[in-house]
Amino acid sequence: MRSVLFLSAFALTALPLSAAATTYSTLDGTAPEVIAHRGASGYQPEHTLASYELAALMGADYIEPDVVITKDGVAIAMHDTTLTRTTNVEDVFPGRASYEASEFTLAEIRSLTVDITPAHQLSDSSIPGYVPSTGTPYLVPTLQEVVDFVIDFNAKNGTNIGLYPELKTADDALNRIIVETLIAAGFDGPEDKVFIQSFDLQTLQDVKAIQEELGSDIPQVALGAAQMVNGVAYLIRSLTEGTALDAIVDFVDAVGPSLLSLPALGIGVTQEYVDYAHNLDLLVHPYTFNTWDSDAAYSEFEPYFDMGIDGFFTNYTDVAIAAIETYGPEPSPVPLPATALLLLSGIGLIAMRRRG
Ligand code: G3P
Ligand code: CA
Repeated sequence: MRSVLFLSAFALTALPLSAAATTYSTLDGTAPEVIAHRGASGYQPEHTLASYELAALMGADYIEPDVVITKDGVAIAMHDTTLTRTTNVEDVFPGRASYEASEFTLAEIRSLTVDITPAHQLSDSSIPGYVPSTGTPYLVPTLQEVVDFVIDFNAKNGTNIGLYPELKTADDALNRIIVETLIAAGFDGPEDKVFIQSFDLQTLQDVKAIQEELGSDIPQVALGAAQMVNGVAYLIRSLTEGTALDAIVDFVDAVGPSLLSLPALGIGVTQEYVDYAHNLDLLVHPYTFNTWDSDAAYSEFEPYFDMGIDGFFTNYTDVAIAAIETYGPEPSPVPLPATALLLLSGIGLIAMRRRG
C-alpha cells in the first residue's frame, strides 16, 4: 500500500496535466482556425502582398486569395472578375472596351496599382507600425507570388500558415493551374494546411477530378448560404437553388456558409446546422466576420464558438485572435512545475508514514 501511494504520487508528477481551459466543440476539439479574408483587408488594400503579410504577422492560420485568370493564362489574386473596383485601371487604360481581368495580360495588370482604401487605418490595428517588407506591396500579385510569400514567411518565422484559394470563375484552365501550383509548392493534401473553395459545385467536382488525375488530395470547400429544411441541412445559392450536404460529401470536406441570417426561412448558421455538418464529418467555416470593435466582435463570435465552428473568414485577424483568446485557449498539456513535483512527492511520503 505504501509503495502504491508513493508511486501514485510519483506517477502524477511524471504525467503532463491539462490546463483548465475552454473545450471547443469543433470537429477536432481545437480552437477555430482564423482565415484571413483577402488578407488583413480591414487595414490594407485587399489581395495585396501587404495585406497578406500583415495577416501573417497578426497570426492568421490561413491566407485567403480569391483567384481569377488573365488574358495570357496567369492566375492572379483578385476578388472581382473586373479590374475597376480595386485598381486604377481606368486611369492607366482609359477607354478600354472591357475592364475584365481576362481581357488584360499579366504585364498590363502589373502596371496597375491596387487602389482601394480599407475600412480602418493601420494605427487602429494590433501592428500600427507595420511597414511592408516588399518594395512593391500594392501591385496585383500572381497566385504563385502568394504561395511563395507564404512559404517564405513560414520558413523565416517558424510558422505554419496555410493557403485557402477560392476559384472565382468556372474555368478549366484556372482549375488546373491552381491544383498544379499548390502541388508544386507541396500543398497537396489535408496535412498541408490547404483548402480549395468555390461557390460552384460543378467547379469543385471538376477540381476533384483533376486532383484524382494528378494524385493530390487537397480538401475542398463548398460556399453558399446555410439553410435547414425539415431537419436537413442545405447549402443554397438562392431561395430556389440548394443542395443537401449529404449530396456533396463525396467531393467536399468543408462547407463555408454565409453569416446571412433569416431565421423565418431557416437560413443561417445554427447549432442544428453545425451538428448536421459535423455528423457528416464536414468542417464548418463561415464567412465573413467584419466587426472591428473588439467588444462588439466578441459578442458576435461567442455564439458561433459555442456552436463549434471549425474556422472562419475575417477581415480583422487581430480582432479574431483576441476573441479566441478571450473565449479560452484550447486545452494543452502543460509540464508540471518543480514546486508541484516536490509537493506531490511530499504527499506520497506523508501518506506512507501515516499508514506505516
Ligand atoms: O470565400 C469566402 C468568402 O470570401 C466568400 O465571399 O465574395 O468575399 O469571396 P467573397
Ligand atoms: Ca473569397
